[in-house]
Amino acid sequence: MNVLITGAGGQLGRCLREMADQVGHDGLVMPGPDRASHFVFTDVTEGYEFLDITDASAVNAFVKSRGIQAIVNCAAYTNVEKAEEEPELAEKLNAGAVAVLASAMKEVGGLLIHISTDYVFGGKATEPYPEDAPAHPSGVYARTKRQGEEAVMASGARYVILRTAWLYSEYGKNFVKTMLRLTAEKPSLKVVNDQKGTPTYAGDLAEVILRLLEMAGQVGHDIYHYTNAGECTWYEFAKTIAAYAGHTACDIQPCTSDEFPSKVHRPAYSVLDKSKIKEALGIRIPHWTESLQTCLERLQ
Ligand SMILES: NC(=O)c1ccc[n+]([C@@H]2O[C@H](COP(=O)([O-])OP(=O)(O)OC[C@H]3O[C@@H](n4cnc5c(N)ncnc54)[C@H](OP(=O)(O)O)[C@@H]3O)[C@@H](O)[C@H]2O)c1
Repeated sequence: MNVLITGAGGQLGRCLREMADQVGHDGLVMPGPDRASHFVFTDVTEGYEFLDITDASAVNAFVKSRGIQAIVNCAAYTNVEKAEEEPELAEKLNAGAVAVLASAMKEVGGLLIHISTDYVFGGKATEPYPEDAPAHPSGVYARTKRQGEEAVMASGARYVILRTAWLYSEYGKNFVKTMLRLTAEKPSLKVVNDQKGTPTYAGDLAEVILRLLEMAGQVGHDIYHYTNAGECTWYEFAKTIAAYAGHTACDIQPCTSDEFPSKVHRPAYSVLDKSKIKEALGIRIPHWTESLQTCLERLQ
């Protein structure tokens, strides 16, 4: 199976590349004799084979000429604040381009694994969101990500929509890396304590994606949720990062979201129910504290 990874230079894409290089070593067996060579990693950033997923003719030509049978779409407009200033760009990437990928997979009978977000729910719940909870996106990022989901579902292609949340990794910019820096530099820090969710190590998500690809023939019209296990606020997450890193000199204090004025309404509660994917893949989901330690060890 020839698998196209889009947005391969991002956090999740880079974890997937690392994981695909190890395929076969940890019981993750892809079809074919030379497993790693079945993945094609593309992005618009330097260092990757160039593929702009907003360019429909380029995507269609790529899929046909390279015999692509599955796409993992890791590309997205992910800057939640900036999306408010560039709604057209966000929509083009998070919705328009997703429709193009889905249509290309429909054409060849392939599978699209599309990554989506807890933000589609709006965050007013008090218990974990199941896959079929009604969507209430708020803000440009959330709305365009939901449009992307709708485009996938309406496309007629075989798909898996994989919703995740609070993604971090060794790569790119993320909350863990920012907190590591700030708690080393600053004597004190305020972190919001009224938004609850689950941090997710992108390496764990990448592993789940490889498992879904192994089952590519058996999945087709599915939505799954995957984050690490447990839940916390950003404040609790920050305290744990600092404690694990030994940055004890920084005084971290809880605060409310009002203290950080933003154009975007952030979900107050965005914990996702993972029972469906746990059962379908027969996986153990590591607690967020366990995966945080894994990531911190890799960052050293
Ligand atoms: N990060 C989170 O906390 C979070 C939470 C929930 C869900 N998600 C979802 O998880 C997925 C992966 O997120 P991530 O954090 O790994 O994202 P990321 O680090 O922002 O990576 C996205 C990648 O897509 C690339 N890209 C931008 N425009 C493109 C285009 N036109 N064609 C092809 N590639 C393009 C970006 O390149 P440039 O950097 O050069 O723009 C970047 O390398 C996304 O769907 C996101 O919505 C993320």
